Amino acid sequence: MASLRSVKGMNDLFGVEALSLGAVESLARNLAKRWGAEEVRTPVLEKLDLFVRSVGEATDVVGKEMYAFEDKDGSQLCLRPEATASVARMLVQHGILRDHPRFRAFYAGPMFRRERPQKGRYRQFHQVGVEFFGEPEPSADVEVIALAAAILDALGLDDVVVELGSVGCPECRPSYREQLVAFLRQEADQLCELCNQRTETNPLRCLDCKSASCQAVYGDAPLPLDHLCDACDQHQAGVEKGLDRLGLDYRVNKRLVRGLDYYRRTVFECTTQKLGAQSAVIAGGRYDGLLGSVGGDEGVAAVGFAAGTERLQLLAREAGTEAGLSPADVAIVTDRNQGVDEALVLMQGLRASGLVVVADLSDRGRKAKTKWLGRTTHRHSLFLEADGSARLRLQGMETQAVHPEIAAILQVLSSN
Ligand code: HAM
Repeated sequence: MASLRSVKGMNDLFGVEALSLGAVESLARNLAKRWGAEEVRTPVLEKLDLFVRSVGEATDVVGKEMYAFEDKDGSQLCLRPEATASVARMLVQHGILRDHPRFRAFYAGPMFRRERPQKGRYRQFHQVGVEFFGEPEPSADVEVIALAAAILDALGLDDVVVELGSVGCPECRPSYREQLVAFLRQEADQLCELCNQRTETNPLRCLDCKSASCQAVYGDAPLPLDHLCDACDQHQAGVEKGLDRLGLDYRVNKRLVRGLDYYRRTVFECTTQKLGAQSAVIAGGRYDGLLGSVGGDEGVAAVGFAAGTERLQLLAREAGTEAGLSPADVAIVTDRNQGVDEALVLMQGLRASGLVVVADLSDRGRKAKTKWLGRTTHRHSLFLEADGSARLRLQGMETQAVHPEIAAILQVLSSN
């Protein structure tokens, strides 16, 4: 029978891959805690309408990349492509903002987009992210960007650039959009097919086109940051001032736009040259009003970001800062299956004292067990002999340096 394989673009994670992804998540979780964010978990399956209403039907994420299907009861469901909309829905559904008008959420988990897989781009990938609700002030944007920078810093990723822009608000965007569409229509025969389509559906996304010939045309295009209303302008100035005050490096990118429709005002991306075509590692911005599109209060402000966990992991690997497999503290083997009960008691004690213990208590002979010890990463090994004595082998350590718990247990063993 043909062997079964995982779905294209969806990876099994084991060994160092699983461990280091978990380590990146823990690092982000611990930092987010320092920013006052509490962890939330939302389901991976959501109603399709959630993303149609928030991320937007004309976006690639919703229009082309969704894993959507009809459930047995006829409802339209999908695997979540991102978590911002889900967290917003959760807040509205449970009335969380009634008790916590300012609520900071952290999440980590898998997202699903049917994109063409390549380095740093998968169909099931992971994100760590934060969403701050109820904070309209520019200082919240500054804090969010500072947290993104702290994650990059903690992973030793010093060549990632923070790009900052603004896409305006419902006051100023419609007139800017009109000017942009007029420009795009005028240049239509110079633009690629996709940009011509986007002119009618999602014109701001044209500025993000990868084609060099389109980009040459966009050198003269009206840019969002030059067409902000006074309030958006002031907000942007407040964000820049705050980042300057913290001494955080960033680059204002007047043509920065995002692939999701819900953004208002601040948008930012942390980008690198090291991931081939996938330049964004962390991306986010402000999305005041999104709560309204999922049935909540339109007036609630919100700002956040999500990081591609695998992308952080890949970069950390290249920078030599990836958290790898940590060795077990003790590996225990018995003489065939003699003394298994004693070994179990010993292991229980060592684990209770916080040590990582691996063991081979099987019926296999000394040769096989020695081989197993050689393949297992551990700091100390303990061979329990059939006569009840124990042989301790310490890696790179003097006998005196034995962990006190092991020393105490060895003493008990040897006195028996
Ligand atoms: P996004 O730009 O769609 O934004 O994704 C954020 C990050 O997720 C990207 O910068 C990238 O690192 C990672 N990512 C996206 N797609 C893939 C993929 N196919 N494979 C691997 N990594 C990927 C959002 O998702 C927004 N929800 C961010 C946000 C939060 N804005 C406000 N709050």
